[in-house]
Amino acid sequence: MLRLLSLLLPLSGAAAATPPTQLFSPLIPAKVLATFGALPKPIQYPQYTDTSAGKWLYFIPDTWTSGFFPTTPYALNTRKTLCGATPQNGLGSADWVALGRSASSGLVPLEIKNGQGHDVGFLSFPFVEELAVNPNNETAKTAINNFARLLANRFNPIVGCTRSWDTSDPTDFQVIIDNMMNLEVLFHSADLTGNSTLRDIAIKHADTTIINHIRPDGSTWHVIEYNSTTGSVIKKRTAQGFSDNSTWSRGQAWGIYGFANMYRLTGDAKYLATSRRLATYFLNNLPSDGIVPWDFNAPLTPAPRPADSSAATIAVNGLLLLAKSEGTAAAAKPWSDAAINILDKITALAWQPSWQSLLSNGTVNKPANNFLTGIVYGDYYYIRAGNELVSMGLASCR
Ligand SMILES: *[C@@H]1O[C@H](CO)[C@@H](O)[C@H](O)[C@H]1NC(C)=O
Ligand SMILES: *[C@@H]1O[C@H](CO)[C@@H](O)[C@H](O)[C@H]1NC(C)=O
Ligand SMILES: *[C@@H]1O[C@H](CO)[C@@H](O)[C@H](O)[C@H]1NC(C)=O
Ligand SMILES: *[C@@H]1O[C@H](CO)[C@@H](O)[C@H](O)[C@H]1NC(C)=O
Ligand SMILES: *[C@@H]1O[C@H](CO)[C@@H](O)[C@H](O)[C@H]1NC(C)=O
Repeated sequence: MLRLLSLLLPLSGAAAATPPTQLFSPLIPAKVLATFGALPKPIQYPQYTDTSAGKWLYFIPDTWTSGFFPTTPYALNTRKTLCGATPQNGLGSADWVALGRSASSGLVPLEIKNGQGHDVGFLSFPFVEELAVNPNNETAKTAINNFARLLANRFNPIVGCTRSWDTSDPTDFQVIIDNMMNLEVLFHSADLTGNSTLRDIAIKHADTTIINHIRPDGSTWHVIEYNSTTGSVIKKRTAQGFSDNSTWSRGQAWGIYGFANMYRLTGDAKYLATSRRLATYFLNNLPSDGIVPWDFNAPLTPAPRPADSSAATIAVNGLLLLAKSEGTAAAAKPWSDAAINILDKITALAWQPSWQSLLSNGTVNKPANNFLTGIVYGDYYYIRAGNELVSMGLASCR
């Protein structure tokens, strides 16, 4: 694997990769503050932008992406802790925790009832951040436990997974690779309540995903359909990718992160090995320009093949988590170098000072013709990437 990775070194240039300066731009806190001030009332959340001016489109709270904007001010609070507040970096311009709390208000009703299936894990993110700031916040604890219960209720022991999407035929049990990101809420709730069944469910889901979602070359299918009464696989297909057999880059990125996170949460080496396999496929299939395409098998013509800046920033966070999971600096470096390289390339392509989002060139859903936008989770993972690089000693603030 290391030999394969060495093929990537020319991408990052002869010199050691350097994180882009935009990662620490004062435009980041300025844009988050402006978006906070413009949230519709009653509250709605930004998900993606238009394609011409980069203006946010807002969605009702019962939407799978609603947790990302409220989580973003907490990421800036983390950044303020890491970097301090200076007139130059703009981090002193708001009480970020207060903003995160205020923006979370629209999510609380969802812990009782929502239409988001497995995506309750994403909806729990701001409450997880809140507990990191204030471990005694009962509202946040209750939200995490309720979201975890909703996900656990979707577990089918015959299949060995939590159901991602609801279907008109309940025996058609659909699981998407993205679901790996939602497992973390089960661990948080297991820690809060002492209920280890929640943890067991997450582990079983991840183990079943290893068996059925990953191809021998380390690429992933987007959707696996199981028969809920027999547990057998009915179909392997795509929903948002180029074709059933292609590799949708955001799904691959969720997988890199999801399995590295499983390793962090359990210490089980098979999850580390799985994250490495997915990361190796991702890096070996990047085009020579280093820009993450929306699907690794999407045609190159007509050029340019659309990028997905959100797949790029999610993969960067997955690669940095993988780097932190490795036992030695030598094993970590190829992953963190690759992460910095992807950040450099996507910043050069997609950093948009005049847009409301930080980045352009997001692909929300190419088959639905929704691409060339900013995306709220792409921006969130961009900020997180900067924070991670600082805390890993791989970037300095400014
Ligand atoms: C607890 O967390 C909730 C949800 O994030 C927030 O609305 C509330 O302000 C927090 N309470 C305190 C006392 O910090
Ligand atoms: C633990 O969680 C599982 C899954 O939600 C649930 O079925 C079970 O009743 C819980 N156990 C306790 C003791 O609350
Ligand atoms: C699942 O299997 C049962 C029993 O064989 C069958 O009745 C049902 O139609 C199957 N469902 C799907 C979606 O294939
Ligand atoms: C997808 O791959 C399978 C083997 O993995 C093959 O049987 C099938 O024909 C392929 N489908 C397409 C549309 O390429
Ligand atoms: C990036 O976005 C710009 C416009 O926002 C577009 O012109 C360009 O083709 C996109 N490039 C890729 C590789 O997606």
